[in-house]
Amino acid sequence: MKKTIIRGTGRYLPSRVVTNDDLAKLMETSDEWIKQRTGIEKRHWTPEEGGVGSSDLGLEAAKIALDRAGWKAEDLDFIIFATLSPDIYFPGPGCLLQHKLGLFSTPALDIRQQCTGFLYGLATADSYIKSGLANKILLVGAEVHSTGLDISTRGRDVTVIFGDGAAALCLEGVETDENVGLLSVSLYAEGKYADNLSTEFPASRCNPRLTEESLRQGLHYAKMDGKNIFKLAVRRLPETANKCLKDANLLISDIDLVIPHQANLRINQAFQQAMNLPEEKVFHNIQRYGNTTAASIPIALDEAIEMNLIGKGSTVLFIGLGAGLTWGGIIYKFPK
Ligand code: ACO
Repeated sequence: MKKTIIRGTGRYLPSRVVTNDDLAKLMETSDEWIKQRTGIEKRHWTPEEGGVGSSDLGLEAAKIALDRAGWKAEDLDFIIFATLSPDIYFPGPGCLLQHKLGLFSTPALDIRQQCTGFLYGLATADSYIKSGLANKILLVGAEVHSTGLDISTRGRDVTVIFGDGAAALCLEGVETDENVGLLSVSLYAEGKYADNLSTEFPASRCNPRLTEESLRQGLHYAKMDGKNIFKLAVRRLPETANKCLKDANLLISDIDLVIPHQANLRINQAFQQAMNLPEEKVFHNIQRYGNTTAASIPIALDEAIEMNLIGKGSTVLFIGLGAGLTWGGIIYKFPK
């Protein structure tokens, strides 16, 4: 049976670094509050004047991943793009990226699952490969949050946690009897919590979709019930990890590294304690990047590979929860 193998990874962070102290000049907040509640010290944002969309960040990450895989863009037979911050309302950034890669008819699919976008995207790529619909897939997670954040005190709870960035994976279907690739996948959604984290406008259920009143009220900015999401994450991430381990017939001690979504350092530390894991087995980079949503797990994966924390023969657990609500976990084993 075909197994989905990662052939190359790449990441791209825009060059503008915004520190907590920079934010404290724009709104009532402090480095101490942000660090203590979230672990975040700084994040990367695209240029203030605009002009850079999630497909542009995705393109830079994709070029690196393709290069590391030894592939040309023409080798791809499918593109999957996960984001909650598309360049424009439609068409999605998958099509925009396809054109920027110089491709003509390669199919492109967008995934709108927020912080779980990478997990849904990886599971989708695996299904396409196993069904024979595609064999060389580019999976991208990319976000430009900064142009959609309320940088006044009104939006401080949301604004301080988000960063921009992108990462890409080249995935290939390989015929092998080895127990490698995606060993287990668990995905979930619970729409009853949709209003816990959402951006309401522009809205197709409103006519017109955007009004001066909705802009005045800031309804085009994300709103979040952070406390409830925090509580749900702390409970559901260990449950999901245990389900993934059971399905893969593994113990937590078989996992070389957990690469969680980077939403809040405290959530990931609570997960580590709940799973009785040593600190070094859970990867963190939220301190430097904030929450880059669909890009956060693949950025962390790319860094972990670069730091030689994982490589040939390693087993990793990807896990995350976010808006939707959506959450899930995937266990991946690198070939030897
Ligand atoms: N700076 C200073 N004070 C602030 C800030 C800020 N940036 N933001 C909020 N406050 C204030 C609040 O106004 C409140 O003040 P009050 O007590 O006078 O009313 C106080 O700090 C506490 O606010 P809470 O919202 O209760 O703070 P909490 O401890 O819950 O931390 C946080 C907020 C960091 C957002 C946390 O709830 C969290 O991380 N939640 C999970 C977020 C998450 O995982 N989201 C999903 C992923 S994102 C995605 O899917 C796109």
